[in-house]
Amino acid sequence: MNEPLPAAPVPHTNPGRTHGDPDANRTSVGERIRILRAAGVAVVVNVPERGLPEVLHWGRDLGGLDADELEQLRLARARPVSPSALDEPWPLTVLPGEQDGWEGRPGFSAHRARQAQYPQWNIIEAHSTADSLRLISTADGLDLTTTFSLDLAGVLRVDHEVTNASDTSLALAALESVVPVDDRAAEVLDFTGRWTRERVPQHRTLTAGSHVRETRRGRTGHDSPFVTALGTPGFTSSTGELWAVHLAWSGDAVYRYDALPEARTLLGAGPLLRPGEIELAPGESFRTPASVFVWSDRGTDGIGSRLHRSLRARSSHPRRPRPVVLNTWEAVYFHHDLGRLEALADTAAEIGVERFVLDDGWFRGRRDDSAGLGDWSVDPQVWPEGLHPIVRKVRSLGMEFGLWFEPEMVNPDSDLAREHPEWLLQPLGTGVRAWRNQYVLDLSRPEAFEYLLESISAIVGEYRLDYIKWDQNRDLIEAVHDGRANVHRHTEAVYRLLDRLRKRHPDLEIESCASGGARVDLGILDRTDRIWASDTNDPIERLAIQRWTELLLPLELIGSHIGPPVTHTTRRATSLDFRIAVALFGSAGIEWDVTSCTPDELKVLREGIACYRRLRGLLHSGELVHPDTGDAGTTATAVIAQDRARALVRIARHATGDRALAPTLRVPRLDPAGRYTVAPVPELPVPRGLDDVAPPWLGHGELRLPGLALAEVGLQMPLLAPGEALVLELIREPS
Ligand code: DGJ
Repeated sequence: MNEPLPAAPVPHTNPGRTHGDPDANRTSVGERIRILRAAGVAVVVNVPERGLPEVLHWGRDLGGLDADELEQLRLARARPVSPSALDEPWPLTVLPGEQDGWEGRPGFSAHRARQAQYPQWNIIEAHSTADSLRLISTADGLDLTTTFSLDLAGVLRVDHEVTNASDTSLALAALESVVPVDDRAAEVLDFTGRWTRERVPQHRTLTAGSHVRETRRGRTGHDSPFVTALGTPGFTSSTGELWAVHLAWSGDAVYRYDALPEARTLLGAGPLLRPGEIELAPGESFRTPASVFVWSDRGTDGIGSRLHRSLRARSSHPRRPRPVVLNTWEAVYFHHDLGRLEALADTAAEIGVERFVLDDGWFRGRRDDSAGLGDWSVDPQVWPEGLHPIVRKVRSLGMEFGLWFEPEMVNPDSDLAREHPEWLLQPLGTGVRAWRNQYVLDLSRPEAFEYLLESISAIVGEYRLDYIKWDQNRDLIEAVHDGRANVHRHTEAVYRLLDRLRKRHPDLEIESCASGGARVDLGILDRTDRIWASDTNDPIERLAIQRWTELLLPLELIGSHIGPPVTHTTRRATSLDFRIAVALFGSAGIEWDVTSCTPDELKVLREGIACYRRLRGLLHSGELVHPDTGDAGTTATAVIAQDRARALVRIARHATGDRALAPTLRVPRLDPAGRYTVAPVPELPVPRGLDDVAPPWLGHGELRLPGLALAEVGLQMPLLAPGEALVLELIREPS
């Protein structure tokens, strides 16, 4: 179905256009209600005669409804007048505002030379296909395009583009996408965090009012709301209905829900705009990043499952097996020395590493973190022959070569800052505070943009880099361009730079990193292949960080490294077996000076890497679930093959529990009728402490049960000690 309404399309460069009688643009009643359906989700949108669209339903699929039934559904949803309220019923639109009767946080907010804007929108065009709906609306001096698209995983993306069609400029304060959720939503889940402790869940009761979480860090942030979900009472990882939103954006953001007494609860997100940041001249447009809405009827895992399916369906999703990485950061830090790095490469290759990544410290003047950022050429003192000797060595060992960059940043002690102080987003000498001795380059400045594109591109070309680790190590504060707030344009420029580089070097893979995991969002992921989840390689901390990063991202996108025996960030000692078990469930790597390992440690590492290489096909394609064990000290993570023929379960203990006998593990989503053999993966040792307290089935070496029994009865978990993990493999017997 593709049905432009009769009016001519609105050119987005047409200031002062006056729109005709909106009545001329009406469709028939049946066509005024559109339904998008996919993967068990339905979105029903009312396209009214006047005003903006209203989402009548977002949630469980309703089956095929005919025009009469859709009209009845609209009637069922129609709002009466409430006591002590506006005299007429008013609509709850996708961009709610006072002109509608809405008194919560507006979806659109702007002024023209201090004149308040309450646009009286009218839809003049509606284009729909089976999975998308694009509506073009106009108001006096404004055009608006709203796009809904529902993908094959049932993930709904909504964005708005507003165009100033008047001859005076428009100062935009807010443009956010909101969708109503069911009245049964009574609890809220969102996230906070800090450096080395990202994505900490906050689960609480939903209370009345307009609730807003803002990020003003100029990047996604360690404490990003990340995914905000409203759910039915008592929802868990596997039960309950949830409505969730994520903003596909790496700059300032607003996450919001409005629970007002006179309306259904609204959930939404949008870019956070600073005063004066977006001022549209006549004819100019502003398009929001997509707000990504996900509904689930099986708890938080249902949210993750839809998002993972949606991401895996992208043409840009990495398809090659995710290589085992060795990253040099915690192995050598800034001490770059060819001999030492060659020895590291030798050992890495011996134990099965496939990609060697030279981290920070290789470029001009970069002997520590006080200098050099911005000077993107190889340091001739440390690397007199350039990086060629190490690149040759790494390639001769059969590994790929990757290199660290932090393109958006500059140290005052750099040639770049000395030559181009005007390129800084935070001008030096104006009192703007340094962070890790660095400031931000203004990428919306074409000369700075071109400099970065050319200098990075030259190095990618010269060394035929396979991989870049793209770091970003500070919040943007007081980020201004010619005196104007500039986080939004800067973020768009970062995206453009990544897009241009990828276009020039189509085989280059890019990892997104920001002081660890401060840039985990679907905006950056549109142009990167791996996300560094955190700067902590402490497996106990990582278990929690990765568990919730997995709500958004499938395992193949989450970088997870085996660190040294005593973690540098927490000073906690952990066993190598445990570190391997945690890194296995991710895009695995090592960040440790493996030249210091004992022969025994190298043997264990080699077997752990072999295990990852054998299982990554399943880990990186299967469905991820987090069985509820009822034991707050245990994290259970399972990956079930799409055809249900195999599964992996990791039981990991991070703290002692309150029970003398560990509870039962139930493994959901197996083939109920298929019979599975359950046994520890052969490459990883069963924790030694279990010798006396292992459950009898583990003493037998394996267990054979149908999927239904494993899901409903489960199996006795071993009583692991904190810092121990057991990885089980489930293989369905041929029928
Ligand atoms: C911060 C990153 O998160 C680390 O992994 C490392 O690359 C350092 N920056 C290098 O400066």
